[in-house]
Amino acid sequence: MNSNLEERLAPPRPLFDEAQLSARVKALARQISDRLPAGTVHVVGVLRGAFVFMADLVRALPRDTRCDFLAVRSYGAATETSGIVEITHDLSLPITGQHVLLVEDIVDTGLTLRHLLQLFAMRGPASLHTCTLLNKPSRRRVNVPVDFVGFEVPDHFVVGYGLDFDQRYRNLPYIGVIETAQA
Ligand code: IMP
Ligand code: MG
Repeated sequence: MNSNLEERLAPPRPLFDEAQLSARVKALARQISDRLPAGTVHVVGVLRGAFVFMADLVRALPRDTRCDFLAVRSYGAATETSGIVEITHDLSLPITGQHVLLVEDIVDTGLTLRHLLQLFAMRGPASLHTCTLLNKPSRRRVNVPVDFVGFEVPDHFVVGYGLDFDQRYRNLPYIGVIETAQA
């Protein structure tokens, strides 16, 4: 029996349940398919947070796709980004001449997305669009274009459906709020 204090804490308070996530992801996929130029969509997920969302998104996307990932680490405390973004695993496929869709779990300060957009733009994609499951506009520190947004969220720390707190909760099938962690 596990007697860790952590394991006895209340589960995250539900914000979006599985049915809401599924319906919204399908609607987003249709919108993306309608708006992106004809041709193969080169989908790039930002690890690790985007892996669950991206898996559902590409399966709902009625387009020819290529899928790739990159991994980033931003220096800072557990729930606060510093704005210094390190690429810990770069793309495996070239994006030059591709219609790129960059997929994020959440855009908070916007610093990560801005950094990635600058990096990608230098590699000469045919087009570059951004999609995030969650958007926290109240926390934005830099102006960054987000073309497709699943849900706007208030200034709470959210977990589940790929998003973590200290690497936990990524496997929750819903999005919930951690009451104690300060975002
Ligand atoms: P940024 O502040 O927009 O650069 O966001 C950086 C990253 O911080 C996101 O991609 C997430 O991985 C993480 N993050 C920001 N807010 C939350 C949250 O509420 N829950 C979980 N992760 C978050
Ligand atoms: Mg992330």
